[in-house]
Amino acid sequence: MYRIVELPYTGWSPAPAEEESRRLAGELELGKVLYLPALRFPLQPSEQPFLDPRWLSGTHKSVSYEPVRAADTGGVRGAQGSPVELAGLAAMIGRFQADALALIRSLFPGYAAHLRIAPTSFRPGNVESRKLSWRKDDTLLHVDSFPSRPNRGERILRVFTNVHPGDEKRVWKVGDLFEQTAAEFLHRIPPQTPGAGHVLKALRITKSHRSKYDHYMLRMHDAMKQDVGYQSRASHLTFGFPPGSTWICFSDQTAHAALSGQFMMEQTLHLPIAALYYPERSPLKVLERLYGGALA
Ligand code: SIN
Ligand code: FE
Repeated sequence: MYRIVELPYTGWSPAPAEEESRRLAGELELGKVLYLPALRFPLQPSEQPFLDPRWLSGTHKSVSYEPVRAADTGGVRGAQGSPVELAGLAAMIGRFQADALALIRSLFPGYAAHLRIAPTSFRPGNVESRKLSWRKDDTLLHVDSFPSRPNRGERILRVFTNVHPGDEKRVWKVGDLFEQTAAEFLHRIPPQTPGAGHVLKALRITKSHRSKYDHYMLRMHDAMKQDVGYQSRASHLTFGFPPGSTWICFSDQTAHAALSGQFMMEQTLHLPIAALYYPERSPLKVLERLYGGALA
């Protein structure tokens, strides 16, 4: 179980001693999953009806909580319902955001001042029922990297909680540590076309300049998903996160795939490399070592 580190905490502000924080950060920053089997996110009785995919609007996979940008739709995007219902969804997801943020700040005081909050999501749909192109198919092992959102090395830290009302686990595959996966894929990826990063920005295909780092991460994400051989032979652990449990990983580093499950809350947080306890373990630094030069 070296890919998953289990923690006994039952509350969202566990406040471990400083050496314990550093030890846990060391595991997380290697790309391991921190698993809190007894940390639940309880729903209020009035929120139980939200455990239904009918709240998703159109083709959305998740309801996302964006209180400022989605103020006109009750603070949520991707949802359908009356204004009162949308406000209820926003309150539930907003409470999870506060809990997830408290958890990370409390476990890792070194991160606290540097976290940038990304939208929080509630995923009421079934993993298996998604019909998607290979690039969007998260049932295949991958590291997270998003075509339109270059981050130049900034980290993607995610907190997940299974809120299934019955006993359905969220089943993941967790792959090799990043260094091994990167060593396998990096040499196969053609270099970025000179100037491409600026062209993509000018054409508004990306929201900001796509760096060499973003180029390699995106190509690695794609190459992992497209490589049928890798998908079938990659060493991995299949693990089911039960309802009432929470888990944390750097999803830009942990090779992961979601095989099945329904009803999950997820919070994404961004973190600059300088705020890590072990910056040299970050994907940017690992890729730069393997590449033999700067990629920022
Ligand atoms: C993913 O981030 O690839 C999917 C996670 C999940 O839906 O459990
Ligand atoms: Fe992912």
